[in-house]
Amino acid sequence: MAVKPVVTYGHESLRTVAQEIVDFKEIDILINDLFDTMYENDGIGLAANQIGINFKIFVVDISHTEEAESPMVFINGKIMDCSGETIDTEGCLSLPDVRIRVKRCSEILFSYLDENLVHHEKTFNGLLATVIQHENDHLEAKLITDYASPSDLIKYEKKLNELLESNAKRRS
Ligand code: NI
Repeated sequence: MAVKPVVTYGHESLRTVAQEIVDFKEIDILINDLFDTMYENDGIGLAANQIGINFKIFVVDISHTEEAESPMVFINGKIMDCSGETIDTEGCLSLPDVRIRVKRCSEILFSYLDENLVHHEKTFNGLLATVIQHENDHLEAKLITDYASPSDLIKYEKKLNELLESNAKRRS
């Protein structure tokens, strides 16, 4: 169990499409690392590529709300169906201090394996549906900035450039 560094906007891992997990030997360690890192950063969701691991897994904990009772693990997830429309302001641990309005489906049918590798195909709505779509986007190499309006991009231009520069320095 360990808290891992969360990679930020400009890191190549966030723009890499995650691979299906086929070897589950070390899955418990990865799940624990994801939860530890998410809680340390006060997040409600975290995808593996946000800690530099390009596998299809994310964790969610919105148990402070009435919509979910316990922390949840989603492995090899896939959106099977998507309906309705909802717009919410979202943040992201990989984009500190950035808040962007994102239009999402209000209801989704999601296929995934849980932490015991049991398969589910379940309908989600409300906050949980939004968080699942946000985290699933991460695994498809998509970020909330991809939904940003031109005015949002202008508003956050300086912040986004700072993040890009810090990642460029890391590489050089
Ligand atoms: Ni995020």
